[in-house]
Amino acid sequence: MVEWLSIPNIDLYLVVGVLILFGAIEVIAGHYNNSNRKSDDWILESIGFFVVAFTKSILVFAVFFAGQLLFSGTEGALAGWPLIPAFIFYIAIDDMSQYWYHRFAHEYNWLWKHHRVHHAAKEMGILTSYRNSWVYYLLMPNLWWVGIATFLGLAPAVIMGLIFKQIIVTSTHSTWHWDKSLYRYKILRPFAWIIERIFITPAFHHGHHGMSKADHISDPNANFGNTFSLWDQMFGTAKFTRKFPSIYGLQTDPGDKWTAHLLYPFVKSKKEGSEIGPGHKKQKNAGKEPLKTTLEAGTYLYCQCGYSANQPWCNGSHHGTKFKPMLVEIKKERKASICTCKLTKSPPYCDNSHEQLV
Ligand code: FES
Repeated sequence: MVEWLSIPNIDLYLVVGVLILFGAIEVIAGHYNNSNRKSDDWILESIGFFVVAFTKSILVFAVFFAGQLLFSGTEGALAGWPLIPAFIFYIAIDDMSQYWYHRFAHEYNWLWKHHRVHHAAKEMGILTSYRNSWVYYLLMPNLWWVGIATFLGLAPAVIMGLIFKQIIVTSTHSTWHWDKSLYRYKILRPFAWIIERIFITPAFHHGHHGMSKADHISDPNANFGNTFSLWDQMFGTAKFTRKFPSIYGLQTDPGDKWTAHLLYPFVKSKKEGSEIGPGHKKQKNAGKEPLKTTLEAGTYLYCQCGYSANQPWCNGSHHGTKFKPMLVEIKKERKASICTCKLTKSPPYCDNSHEQLV
Protein backbone atom coordinates (compact mmCIF):
# COMPACT_ATOMS: atom_id res chain seq x y z
CA MET A 1 0.00 0.00 0.00
CA VAL A 2 1.15 3.57 -0.69
CA GLU A 3 2.50 4.80 2.65
CA TRP A 4 0.83 8.25 2.70
CA LEU A 5 -2.61 6.74 2.22
CA SER A 6 -2.49 5.43 5.79
CA ILE A 7 -1.96 8.89 7.35
CA PRO A 8 -5.07 9.62 9.49
CA ASN A 9 -7.47 12.13 7.86
CA ILE A 10 -5.18 12.51 4.82
CA ASP A 11 -8.23 12.65 2.53
CA LEU A 12 -9.70 15.59 4.46
CA TYR A 13 -6.39 17.53 4.42
CA LEU A 14 -5.93 16.98 0.70
CA VAL A 15 -9.55 17.75 -0.20
CA VAL A 16 -9.34 21.04 1.72
CA GLY A 17 -5.88 21.62 0.18
CA VAL A 18 -7.35 21.29 -3.34
CA LEU A 19 -10.08 23.80 -2.48
CA ILE A 20 -7.56 26.27 -1.04
CA LEU A 21 -5.33 25.94 -4.11
CA PHE A 22 -8.13 26.58 -6.62
CA GLY A 23 -9.64 29.26 -4.36
CA ALA A 24 -6.26 31.06 -4.23
CA ILE A 25 -6.03 30.95 -8.03
CA GLU A 26 -9.54 32.44 -8.33
CA VAL A 27 -8.68 35.22 -5.85
CA ILE A 28 -5.35 36.04 -7.56
CA ALA A 29 -7.08 36.07 -10.95
CA GLY A 30 -9.41 38.75 -9.53
CA HIS A 31 -12.59 36.75 -9.95
CA TYR A 32 -14.14 37.98 -6.71
CA ASN A 33 -13.39 41.67 -7.35
CA ASN A 34 -16.32 41.91 -9.76
CA SER A 35 -18.45 39.19 -8.24
CA ASN A 36 -22.20 39.72 -7.92
CA ARG A 37 -22.56 36.92 -5.38
CA LYS A 38 -25.07 37.73 -2.68
CA SER A 39 -24.63 36.96 1.01
CA ASP A 40 -27.16 34.14 0.54
CA ASP A 41 -24.80 32.48 -1.97
CA TRP A 42 -21.82 32.69 0.37
CA ILE A 43 -23.78 31.29 3.31
CA LEU A 44 -25.35 28.53 1.25
CA GLU A 45 -22.10 27.36 -0.34
CA SER A 46 -20.07 27.53 2.87
CA ILE A 47 -22.65 25.60 4.88
CA GLY A 48 -23.07 23.19 1.94
CA PHE A 49 -19.40 22.15 2.30
CA PHE A 50 -20.00 21.10 5.90
CA VAL A 51 -23.30 19.41 5.03
CA VAL A 52 -21.47 17.13 2.57
CA ALA A 53 -18.65 16.38 5.01
CA PHE A 54 -21.09 15.69 7.84
CA THR A 55 -23.43 13.55 5.69
CA LYS A 56 -20.51 11.52 4.36
CA SER A 57 -19.25 10.82 7.88
CA ILE A 58 -22.72 9.81 9.09
CA LEU A 59 -23.23 7.49 6.11
CA VAL A 60 -19.85 5.80 6.55
CA PHE A 61 -20.64 5.27 10.21
CA ALA A 62 -24.16 3.96 9.40
CA VAL A 63 -22.87 1.58 6.72
CA PHE A 64 -20.22 0.21 9.10
CA PHE A 65 -22.79 -0.24 11.84
CA ALA A 66 -25.27 -2.00 9.50
CA GLY A 67 -22.50 -4.04 7.86
CA GLN A 68 -21.14 -5.34 11.15
CA LEU A 69 -24.66 -6.17 12.27
CA LEU A 70 -25.89 -7.86 9.10
CA PHE A 71 -22.79 -8.89 7.11
CA SER A 72 -20.03 -9.26 9.70
CA GLY A 73 -18.24 -11.94 7.65
CA THR A 74 -17.71 -9.56 4.73
CA GLU A 75 -15.90 -6.77 6.60
CA GLY A 76 -12.53 -6.27 4.90
CA ALA A 77 -13.32 -8.97 2.30
CA LEU A 78 -11.56 -7.02 -0.50
CA ALA A 79 -8.67 -5.74 1.60
CA GLY A 80 -6.15 -7.85 -0.29
CA TRP A 81 -6.87 -6.23 -3.66
CA PRO A 82 -3.92 -4.40 -5.25
CA LEU A 83 -4.33 -0.64 -5.09
CA ILE A 84 -4.76 0.17 -8.80
CA PRO A 85 -7.50 -2.40 -9.63
CA ALA A 86 -9.21 -1.46 -6.36
CA PHE A 87 -9.06 2.23 -7.30
CA ILE A 88 -10.50 1.59 -10.79
CA PHE A 89 -13.28 -0.57 -9.32
CA TYR A 90 -14.11 2.04 -6.69
CA ILE A 91 -14.06 5.10 -8.98
CA ALA A 92 -16.01 3.40 -11.80
CA ILE A 93 -18.92 2.51 -9.51
CA ASP A 94 -18.74 5.87 -7.77
CA ASP A 95 -18.81 7.91 -10.93
CA MET A 96 -21.41 5.93 -12.87
CA SER A 97 -23.82 5.94 -9.92
CA GLN A 98 -23.34 9.68 -9.56
CA TYR A 99 -23.98 10.18 -13.29
CA TRP A 100 -27.37 8.45 -13.03
CA TYR A 101 -28.29 10.13 -9.78
CA HIS A 102 -27.47 13.55 -11.24
CA ARG A 103 -29.39 12.75 -14.44
CA PHE A 104 -32.43 11.57 -12.46
CA ALA A 105 -32.27 14.83 -10.51
CA HIS A 106 -32.92 16.63 -13.80
CA GLU A 107 -35.64 14.22 -14.91
CA TYR A 108 -37.73 13.63 -11.76
CA ASN A 109 -39.41 16.57 -10.11
CA TRP A 110 -39.13 15.48 -6.47
CA LEU A 111 -35.35 15.08 -6.82
CA TRP A 112 -34.98 18.22 -8.96
CA LYS A 113 -36.32 20.25 -6.02
CA HIS A 114 -33.23 19.16 -4.05
CA HIS A 115 -30.77 19.81 -6.86
CA ARG A 116 -32.31 23.00 -8.26
CA VAL A 117 -30.24 25.17 -5.90
CA HIS A 118 -27.12 23.93 -7.71
CA HIS A 119 -28.41 25.51 -10.94
CA ALA A 120 -29.64 28.66 -9.25
CA ALA A 121 -25.98 29.77 -9.03
CA LYS A 122 -25.51 32.77 -11.29
CA GLU A 123 -21.74 32.50 -11.01
CA MET A 124 -19.40 29.56 -11.02
CA GLY A 125 -16.59 29.07 -8.50
CA ILE A 126 -14.96 26.48 -6.28
CA LEU A 127 -17.84 26.40 -3.83
CA THR A 128 -20.62 26.07 -6.41
CA SER A 129 -20.31 22.29 -6.25
CA TYR A 130 -21.56 22.38 -2.63
CA ARG A 131 -24.95 23.86 -3.51
CA ASN A 132 -27.50 21.09 -2.99
CA SER A 133 -30.14 20.40 -0.37
CA TRP A 134 -29.35 18.11 2.57
CA VAL A 135 -31.73 15.48 1.13
CA TYR A 136 -29.77 15.43 -2.13
CA TYR A 137 -26.60 14.56 -0.23
CA LEU A 138 -28.31 12.08 2.04
CA LEU A 139 -29.61 10.04 -0.92
CA MET A 140 -26.48 10.39 -3.07
CA PRO A 141 -25.51 6.80 -3.93
CA ASN A 142 -21.80 7.48 -4.20
CA LEU A 143 -21.69 8.81 -0.63
CA TRP A 144 -23.15 5.46 0.48
CA TRP A 145 -20.61 3.76 -1.75
CA VAL A 146 -17.78 5.48 0.19
CA GLY A 147 -19.02 3.64 3.29
CA ILE A 148 -19.59 0.31 1.55
CA ALA A 149 -16.19 0.28 -0.19
CA THR A 150 -14.45 1.24 3.05
CA PHE A 151 -16.31 -1.51 4.91
CA LEU A 152 -15.16 -4.02 2.28
CA GLY A 153 -11.55 -3.07 2.94
CA LEU A 154 -10.91 -0.66 0.06
CA ALA A 155 -10.05 2.36 2.24
CA PRO A 156 -6.80 3.26 0.37
CA ALA A 157 -8.62 3.15 -2.99
CA VAL A 158 -11.44 5.25 -1.51
CA ILE A 159 -8.97 7.87 -0.26
CA MET A 160 -7.27 8.01 -3.68
CA GLY A 161 -10.69 8.26 -5.34
CA LEU A 162 -11.91 11.07 -3.09
CA ILE A 163 -8.82 13.17 -3.75
CA PHE A 164 -8.85 12.45 -7.49
CA LYS A 165 -12.53 13.37 -7.71
CA GLN A 166 -12.01 16.50 -5.67
CA ILE A 167 -9.41 17.76 -8.14
CA ILE A 168 -11.69 17.15 -11.14
CA VAL A 169 -14.93 18.41 -9.56
CA THR A 170 -13.31 21.54 -8.09
CA SER A 171 -11.60 22.34 -11.39
CA THR A 172 -14.79 21.88 -13.43
CA HIS A 173 -16.70 24.34 -11.24
CA SER A 174 -13.83 26.80 -10.87
CA THR A 175 -13.58 30.08 -12.75
CA TRP A 176 -9.99 29.12 -13.62
CA HIS A 177 -10.55 27.56 -17.05
CA TRP A 178 -7.33 25.57 -17.36
CA ASP A 179 -8.56 23.84 -20.54
CA LYS A 180 -8.76 27.09 -22.55
CA SER A 181 -5.05 26.91 -23.37
CA LEU A 182 -5.57 23.46 -24.88
CA TYR A 183 -8.21 24.86 -27.23
CA ARG A 184 -6.24 28.00 -28.10
CA TYR A 185 -3.11 26.36 -29.58
CA LYS A 186 -3.63 24.20 -32.64
CA ILE A 187 -0.85 21.80 -31.65
CA LEU A 188 -2.61 21.07 -28.34
CA ARG A 189 -6.09 20.45 -29.78
CA PRO A 190 -5.60 16.70 -30.37
CA PHE A 191 -4.70 16.38 -26.64
CA ALA A 192 -7.81 18.35 -25.78
CA TRP A 193 -9.87 15.93 -27.87
CA ILE A 194 -8.46 12.94 -25.95
CA ILE A 195 -8.73 14.58 -22.52
CA GLU A 196 -12.35 15.70 -23.00
CA ARG A 197 -13.35 12.21 -24.10
CA ILE A 198 -12.09 10.73 -20.86
CA PHE A 199 -12.45 13.41 -18.18
CA ILE A 200 -14.94 16.18 -17.51
CA THR A 201 -13.34 19.47 -18.53
CA PRO A 202 -14.33 22.92 -17.21
CA ALA A 203 -15.94 23.80 -20.60
CA PHE A 204 -17.95 20.55 -20.62
CA HIS A 205 -19.32 21.12 -17.13
CA HIS A 206 -19.82 24.88 -17.44
CA GLY A 207 -21.99 24.05 -20.47
CA HIS A 208 -24.23 22.07 -18.11
CA HIS A 209 -24.55 25.12 -15.83
CA GLY A 210 -25.31 27.65 -18.59
CA MET A 211 -28.85 29.02 -18.40
CA SER A 212 -30.18 27.51 -21.63
CA LYS A 213 -29.08 26.15 -24.95
CA ALA A 214 -30.19 29.34 -26.69
CA ASP A 215 -26.54 30.47 -26.49
CA HIS A 216 -25.43 27.45 -28.61
CA ILE A 217 -22.92 26.55 -25.87
CA SER A 218 -24.97 25.44 -22.88
CA ASP A 219 -27.33 22.57 -22.32
CA PRO A 220 -28.50 21.92 -18.75
CA ASN A 221 -30.10 18.71 -20.07
CA ALA A 222 -26.73 17.27 -21.09
CA ASN A 223 -23.30 16.65 -19.55
CA PHE A 224 -24.36 15.01 -16.30
CA GLY A 225 -20.97 13.38 -15.59
CA ASN A 226 -18.78 14.35 -12.64
CA THR A 227 -15.33 12.90 -13.20
CA PHE A 228 -15.44 10.98 -16.50
CA SER A 229 -17.26 12.01 -19.67
CA LEU A 230 -17.49 8.32 -20.64
CA TRP A 231 -20.95 7.93 -19.11
CA ASP A 232 -22.39 10.87 -21.03
CA GLN A 233 -20.95 9.46 -24.25
CA MET A 234 -22.17 5.95 -23.44
CA PHE A 235 -25.71 7.04 -22.52
CA GLY A 236 -26.18 9.71 -25.20
CA THR A 237 -26.06 12.92 -23.14
CA ALA A 238 -22.62 14.30 -24.08
CA LYS A 239 -22.47 17.75 -25.65
CA PHE A 240 -18.87 18.72 -26.22
CA THR A 241 -18.10 22.40 -26.23
CA ARG A 242 -14.93 24.43 -26.05
CA LYS A 243 -16.61 27.69 -25.19
CA PHE A 244 -17.94 28.97 -21.89
CA PRO A 245 -21.47 30.32 -21.31
CA SER A 246 -21.86 33.98 -20.43
CA ILE A 247 -25.13 33.50 -18.51
CA TYR A 248 -25.57 30.98 -15.68
CA GLY A 249 -28.55 30.23 -13.46
CA LEU A 250 -32.24 29.37 -13.82
CA GLN A 251 -34.42 30.85 -16.55
CA THR A 252 -37.11 31.62 -13.97
CA ASP A 253 -35.62 32.31 -10.57
CA PRO A 254 -37.82 33.70 -7.78
CA GLY A 255 -34.73 34.24 -5.58
CA ASP A 256 -35.35 31.72 -2.79
CA LYS A 257 -33.61 32.17 0.57
CA TRP A 258 -30.67 29.92 1.42
CA THR A 259 -32.65 28.33 4.24
CA ALA A 260 -35.30 27.00 1.81
CA HIS A 261 -32.67 25.93 -0.73
CA LEU A 262 -30.71 23.95 1.82
CA LEU A 263 -33.40 22.70 4.19
CA TYR A 264 -36.31 21.90 1.85
CA PRO A 265 -38.79 20.26 2.58
CA PHE A 266 -38.54 21.30 6.26
CA VAL A 267 -38.23 24.92 5.23
CA LYS A 268 -40.21 26.03 2.18
CA SER A 269 -39.78 29.14 0.09
CA LYS A 270 -42.12 32.07 0.62
CA LYS A 271 -41.35 33.45 -2.84
CA GLU A 272 -44.32 33.45 -5.18
CA GLY A 273 -44.27 30.68 -7.77
CA SER A 274 -41.20 29.00 -6.32
CA GLU A 275 -40.81 25.31 -7.12
CA ILE A 276 -39.85 24.78 -3.48
CA GLY A 277 -42.81 26.73 -2.13
CA PRO A 278 -45.66 25.07 -0.14
CA GLY A 279 -47.78 22.76 -2.31
CA HIS A 280 -46.13 23.77 -5.57
CA LYS A 281 -47.18 21.63 -8.53
CA LYS A 282 -46.22 22.00 -12.16
CA GLN A 283 -49.21 23.32 -14.13
CA LYS A 284 -49.92 22.28 -17.69
CA ASN A 285 -50.20 25.44 -19.75
CA ALA A 286 -50.55 23.88 -23.18
CA GLY A 287 -53.09 25.75 -25.30
CA LYS A 288 -55.83 24.73 -27.72
CA GLU A 289 -55.02 27.15 -30.53
CA PRO A 290 -51.75 27.93 -32.28
CA LEU A 291 -50.01 31.27 -31.78
CA LYS A 292 -50.12 33.15 -35.07
CA THR A 293 -47.22 35.54 -34.96
CA THR A 294 -44.36 37.17 -36.83
CA LEU A 295 -40.99 35.77 -35.83
CA GLU A 296 -38.04 38.07 -36.15
CA ALA A 297 -34.71 36.58 -37.18
CA GLY A 298 -33.06 35.01 -34.12
CA THR A 299 -32.91 32.02 -31.78
CA TYR A 300 -36.00 30.75 -29.97
CA LEU A 301 -36.51 28.01 -27.40
CA TYR A 302 -39.77 26.21 -28.08
CA CYS A 303 -41.46 24.63 -25.03
CA GLN A 304 -42.07 20.91 -25.53
CA CYS A 305 -43.18 20.05 -22.00
CA GLY A 306 -46.31 22.22 -21.92
CA TYR A 307 -45.52 23.55 -18.42
CA SER A 308 -44.15 26.94 -19.45
CA ALA A 309 -46.27 29.90 -18.43
CA ASN A 310 -44.80 31.73 -21.41
CA GLN A 311 -46.32 29.54 -24.17
CA PRO A 312 -45.25 28.58 -26.68
CA TRP A 313 -41.73 29.44 -25.48
CA CYS A 314 -39.67 27.68 -22.82
CA ASN A 315 -39.27 29.33 -19.40
CA GLY A 316 -37.28 26.53 -17.76
CA SER A 317 -40.27 24.69 -16.26
CA HIS A 318 -39.20 21.48 -18.02
CA HIS A 319 -36.55 20.91 -15.31
CA GLY A 320 -37.63 17.92 -13.27
CA THR A 321 -39.18 16.22 -16.32
CA LYS A 322 -37.79 14.21 -19.23
CA PHE A 323 -38.73 16.97 -21.69
CA LYS A 324 -36.25 19.37 -23.23
CA PRO A 325 -36.86 22.60 -25.12
CA MET A 326 -36.32 22.71 -28.89
CA LEU A 327 -33.86 25.19 -30.35
CA VAL A 328 -35.44 27.06 -33.27
CA GLU A 329 -33.36 29.22 -35.59
CA ILE A 330 -35.16 31.81 -37.66
CA LYS A 331 -32.90 33.19 -40.38
CA LYS A 332 -35.28 35.80 -41.80
CA GLU A 333 -38.37 37.49 -40.39
CA ARG A 334 -41.43 35.41 -41.23
CA LYS A 335 -45.03 34.80 -40.25
CA ALA A 336 -45.58 31.50 -38.41
CA SER A 337 -48.26 29.50 -36.68
CA ILE A 338 -46.64 28.04 -33.55
CA CYS A 339 -48.14 24.98 -31.89
CA THR A 340 -49.24 25.44 -28.28
CA CYS A 341 -51.16 22.16 -27.86
CA LYS A 342 -47.93 20.08 -28.14
CA LEU A 343 -49.62 17.52 -30.39
CA THR A 344 -48.05 18.69 -33.63
CA LYS A 345 -45.91 16.25 -35.58
CA SER A 346 -43.74 19.09 -36.92
CA PRO A 347 -42.78 21.18 -33.91
CA PRO A 348 -42.68 24.07 -33.39
CA TYR A 349 -45.17 24.65 -36.19
CA CYS A 350 -48.89 23.94 -36.04
CA ASP A 351 -50.09 21.02 -38.19
CA ASN A 352 -53.72 21.40 -37.09
CA SER A 353 -53.45 18.53 -34.58
CA HIS A 354 -55.24 20.80 -32.07
CA GLU A 355 -58.42 20.09 -34.04
CA GLN A 356 -58.47 16.64 -32.39
CA LEU A 357 -59.06 18.41 -29.07
CA VAL A 358 -62.67 18.60 -28.07
S1 FES B 1 -40.62 25.02 -20.23
FE1 FES B 1 -38.85 24.36 -21.29
S2 FES B 1 -39.57 22.80 -22.57
FE2 FES B 1 -41.37 23.49 -21.55
